[in-house]
Amino acid sequence: MRLKNTAAAFAGVLLLSSCAKLTLAWTDLEPDGPPARPQVLDAFAGTSAVGEVADWEQVRAPLFREALQREVFGVMPDASSTQILDHKILNSVAFNGKGVLEEYRLAARVTFNGVEVETVGADTDEGFVMNLALPINADGPVPVILMQTFCPRWNTLPDASVAGAPEKIDTGGNIGTYIFGRFICTPPVEEILDAGYAIATIFPSEIVPDSKKRGLEQLRRLSAGYEDDETRWGAIGAWAWLYSRMIDVLEDDPRLDQSATVTWGHSRYGKSALVAAAFDDRIDGVISHQSGTGGASLNRRKKGESVKSITNSYPHWFAQSYAGFAGREEEMTIDQHHLLALIAPRPVMLGNARRDVWSDPNGAFRAAAGADPVYDLYGAKGLEQARLDEWKPGAALAFWIRPGTHGVVKEDWPAFLEFLDAHFGK
Ligand code: GCU
Repeated sequence: MRLKNTAAAFAGVLLLSSCAKLTLAWTDLEPDGPPARPQVLDAFAGTSAVGEVADWEQVRAPLFREALQREVFGVMPDASSTQILDHKILNSVAFNGKGVLEEYRLAARVTFNGVEVETVGADTDEGFVMNLALPINADGPVPVILMQTFCPRWNTLPDASVAGAPEKIDTGGNIGTYIFGRFICTPPVEEILDAGYAIATIFPSEIVPDSKKRGLEQLRRLSAGYEDDETRWGAIGAWAWLYSRMIDVLEDDPRLDQSATVTWGHSRYGKSALVAAAFDDRIDGVISHQSGTGGASLNRRKKGESVKSITNSYPHWFAQSYAGFAGREEEMTIDQHHLLALIAPRPVMLGNARRDVWSDPNGAFRAAAGADPVYDLYGAKGLEQARLDEWKPGAALAFWIRPGTHGVVKEDWPAFLEFLDAHFGK
């Protein structure tokens, strides 16, 4: 399938998806229950309660990682590597002279149980593409935001030179942006560059398609050495793995501040942005916007999207085992606050909207409260708010909620930049 100028196709896909299940209900701004349980530092799987960072890092965190793979995301590869096939400058005065735009063509290798498989992308022989936009004339290394979005790369970093770009690039004013916000496909690139941040992007579907049939085929092909269908990785895990492949390339770039690599994702990619950080400590921070079920929101709640619904609609996103917990969520040994806890003490921003009850903001808040003890263990200032609307961008667990529905709208990017400046700004 060739990628077309997809603003219209993209809107169609999203409309068909249950993303359109917006409701007129409002989320409470007070937490509607106590912090999520089971408590992250309590005795777990035969190990005693955790009281020290060393116990957390050496004993507990690996057990949580293992349980999250087994129960939700599927098993991640044993080893991976990324090869640069080509790298060039596309435009040295892009984005109204504010940035330099580059393109990488990449191949990634992945090993499960000793069987190594290579991918150059699902539909190409030439390598999958990562684009990088750097602030022009930066004085010194800059933080980098790694982005996965719903839209082709030329929508995320719109420039005629981007491989595959149509003659006229659609950056808004269409039905997709009308429903899901002006910035759903195209972030405010010039403002971000002006604020001193680089942006790197891939379109994850180019490598692991967001489609039941083709997605599952590619996931199976890449995990050829893996036998157990129940716990084989799903697309959320694979997209998380792709964030790490971007870092394989960027971690050698002296123009980037290697202590300020932040994953950014909305909704399904908000889920993968969190998983990436939980499994890769080269990631220094996360902006996960409206990640919902399978992301920051809790499985054990009956609000918003259920495990049953998400695994029916998107069987390629998770391990099959997750679907098996539908209706028996109490039997899971972990919940999504364990995912957040694995990112501690690194800063995480959870973006939410009051009428996006499908993604259950209150469940995400209680997950943040449930992860907070691990931030405390590190002496980091985790969740510093008692209500959902007490925005504290400088907190390491920063919870943001605005009015409105699911999407990326004009209030969101100033909040993302406030969070970034508080933790990674000069
Ligand atoms: C659907 C899905 C959500 C997902 C969202 C999105 O609404 O049910 O789990 O987060 O799509 O990715 O926009």
